[in-house]
Amino acid sequence: MHEIRLTVNGRAHELAVEARRTLADVLRHDLGYTGTHLGCEHGICGACTVLMDGAPVRACLVFGVQADGTEVRTVEGLADGEQLSDLQQAFSDHHALQCGFCTPGFLMLAEAYLAENGDAPLGEAWRPRVLGRNHDRHRHQAAAPGRPAPAARPRSLRRRR
Ligand code: FES
Repeated sequence: MHEIRLTVNGRAHELAVEARRTLADVLRHDLGYTGTHLGCEHGICGACTVLMDGAPVRACLVFGVQADGTEVRTVEGLADGEQLSDLQQAFSDHHALQCGFCTPGFLMLAEAYLAENGDAPLGEAWRPRVLGRNHDRHRHQAAAPGRPAPAARPRSLRRRR
């Protein structure tokens, strides 16, 4: 067992984990952040995406010990109590939830993208960067040509911060 310390959504945690335990399992089973979902468990679907020190990572591919000393953000950290974040509200407004299973991962990936790119207009370059990292989402989009643009796309989206 290895002692690790990490901050999740601003809250400090200390725990002992096995070397082989994934960050996804640490978050879900050891710390109770069950908003991080597991789909493929081998880095393809993106459902488990969280931010580690601001960068999107697949929590199924990161060991808990690698998160020692980092700040992690999960989907639970987006809303302010009952107040949805601007991104969550945009997903709701644009009916972008679909079945909802991969939504936490997609939200966190879009959160990282917007944090990096701010209010810059989102051109076509966003597609492979964002959708290419979320297989399920990409597949749904490809299967439904003509669907309304996903919530992460509106040029009018502005951060509330
Ligand atoms: S569960 Fe991690 S990428 Fe699919």
